[in-house]
Amino acid sequence: MQPTGYAQLDTLLPRLATIESLDAAALDAEHTAILGRKAGALTEASKAIPTLPPEQRRGYGAAVNQVKAAFEAAFTARRAALGEAARRKQAEGIDLTMPARRRWTGGRHPVTATMDEITDIFRGLGFVVAVGPEVETEWFNFHALNFPADHPAMDMHDTLYVAGEPVEGPHGGRQLLRTHTSPVQIRCLLGQPLPVRAIMPGMCYRNDPFDPSHAPAFQQVEGLAVDEGISFVDLKATLVHFARRFFGETTRTRFRPSYFPFTEPSAEMDVECQLCHGSGCPACKGTGWMEVLGCGSVHPQVLENTGVDSERYTGFAFGMGPARITMLRHGITDIRHLYEGDMRFLAHLAS
Ligand code: DAH
Repeated sequence: MQPTGYAQLDTLLPRLATIESLDAAALDAEHTAILGRKAGALTEASKAIPTLPPEQRRGYGAAVNQVKAAFEAAFTARRAALGEAARRKQAEGIDLTMPARRRWTGGRHPVTATMDEITDIFRGLGFVVAVGPEVETEWFNFHALNFPADHPAMDMHDTLYVAGEPVEGPHGGRQLLRTHTSPVQIRCLLGQPLPVRAIMPGMCYRNDPFDPSHAPAFQQVEGLAVDEGISFVDLKATLVHFARRFFGETTRTRFRPSYFPFTEPSAEMDVECQLCHGSGCPACKGTGWMEVLGCGSVHPQVLENTGVDSERYTGFAFGMGPARITMLRHGITDIRHLYEGDMRFLAHLAS
């Protein structure tokens, strides 16, 4: 509309043109600002009319009414347009009056995410993913892995045996829920062409109480490389590379001598504590280090047990628990959080 010649009114005119682009909430706010009964700009302007000298009242009053009418028309038109748009959307099945639903963000389980990252890193090094059964025989789970016949791990207190007849034959024995993923090493070596580079994720079971540091059912990831000329140097280089990729490029590692029946020599790899980065804290019991995995050069007897010529071939193996690694990474102090399916906890860590 044309300027009225009254500065107080004319400053409002540019706002007329913006009304047609306001949404419902902004429209209400603008209506209140311009025409609101208490403090609207035009209401204020009207209040001034009776205070003016009589000869000025008529002209000013007419201008106020003109501007008011223009705003009222613009507000009415915009309301109608918004109402029409809402009706059209509703007719298309979109109900704009329905409260918005909170966005759901899906996510992997934190242990699955860890497992995926571990397998990805090793796939990048030429390892293939292999799986084996969760019900194994004593031979695969223990004997082929060079456990002596009377090893305490085979005790009923530690191992969950499956009811039924023992499996006959050289690879048989009592049936059990595998206590580690190491028997998949045996399956990768048995009667298959070499070399082998495999990463083997899967569930394992032990007759353990469900407490802050144990779960009776848990994941492990096993690794195995067997070829001509593989040495402990390859093992160290591979696992140090893994630790740097997984925990961060500057992460320090150390290897400590250890013992496993199926590796010789055997070691455990520690990484610098992910919470205190080496200075010592309760999570690492003040040592600055956290134990991540067991590893070693494949015991020649394991190669011989699977028909591999241990004079010609050597290898390395390692095994780790992705739940434990997830705990180290996030500073989780109770493994049960990872296996209880509490959505509030899981949603917090989901990636
Ligand atoms: N099987 C071992 C366990 O359950 C973990 C392990 C240690 C696997 C050393 C390996 C290894 O392959 O070389 O505690």
